Amino acid sequence: MENVTVVGAGVMGRGIAYVCAAGGFQVQLVDVNASQLEQAENEINKLFDKNKKLTEEQIQKARKSLKYVSEMEKGMEMADLIIEAVPEKIEIKRSVFETADRYAKEEAVLATNTSTMSPTEIGSFTSRPENVIAMHFFNPVHKMKLIEVIRGLETSDETVATIENVGEQIGKEIVVVNEFPGFVTSRISALVGNEAFYMLQEGVGSPEEIDKAIKLGLNYPMGPFELVDLVGLDARLNNMKYLHAKLGEKYRPAPLLEKYVKAGRLGRKSGKGVYDYSQEPQTSK
Ligand SMILES: NC(=O)c1ccc[n+]([C@@H]2O[C@H](COP(=O)([O-])OP(=O)(O)OC[C@H]3O[C@@H](n4cnc5c(N)ncnc54)[C@H](O)[C@@H]3O)[C@@H](O)[C@H]2O)c1
Repeated sequence: MENVTVVGAGVMGRGIAYVCAAGGFQVQLVDVNASQLEQAENEINKLFDKNKKLTEEQIQKARKSLKYVSEMEKGMEMADLIIEAVPEKIEIKRSVFETADRYAKEEAVLATNTSTMSPTEIGSFTSRPENVIAMHFFNPVHKMKLIEVIRGLETSDETVATIENVGEQIGKEIVVVNEFPGFVTSRISALVGNEAFYMLQEGVGSPEEIDKAIKLGLNYPMGPFELVDLVGLDARLNNMKYLHAKLGEKYRPAPLLEKYVKAGRLGRKSGKGVYDYSQEPQTSK
């Protein structure tokens, strides 16, 4: 295993590409949007500048091993592992996996970073569902220790073992769970985050007060509004809609969350979410 291709250079894809390059893989980061690739390169370079774990020589090597690619096919042909990190919309995932199936080597492992969706369904978009698996990273990828691995119905033991090895090489802990919408982490996180929007809507407290109560009272490292601003309100809304369709009423998106997304308040990435970041420099958090 040498070559990793990450598809989608957004919030997650750039973090995944960075940790894979820092872990010694040859990495290609692919996106259909040139400005996303440019921003990803800037942010990844800042992360390398701040890296205290690797030697200067290792950092130079890792920087060189990372290529920014706008042609999907080229990015896929040489990959041993493809990690998809495109938006949480099934038709976009389908197009990426169909393309991967057409161009990737027969033995390549095809992983999805979906937060909620079925790796079994995503595997069915290919002729090799045994090579398809969910590899769920957390935001910010360079700081968060876990990869939640979800095997689809047809995923082979060999594919699971490959992902466990990659996880170890990039310094992450792995938990392998069974497929069910939202897995473990997204299901809980979606409920807590959605409830916080209901509380805000009901006037229970300000965002600062609610975040403070949750952080200090429940010992969460971040408040639900700080977290959703980092995750992206649009990404959270997509997750909620999917979980609502699959798991029912409990997961109905809070109207205030929908309103913020309609207003373009998407979180840190748009300069404003629940909180206002317009005075802060754009950084890699
Ligand atoms: N944001 C989070 O905190 C978080 C955490 C865990 C998992 N996820 C999951 O990761 C995935 C990506 O989320 P994100 O927040 O990074 O999204 P994002 O919107 O920040 O980035 C998505 C990127 O995909 C690109 N893209 C769109 N269509 C493409 C295509 N056909 N081919 C190549 N690139 C394409 C876009 O240009 C964009 O750069 C989603 O499935 C999401 O549910 C997100």
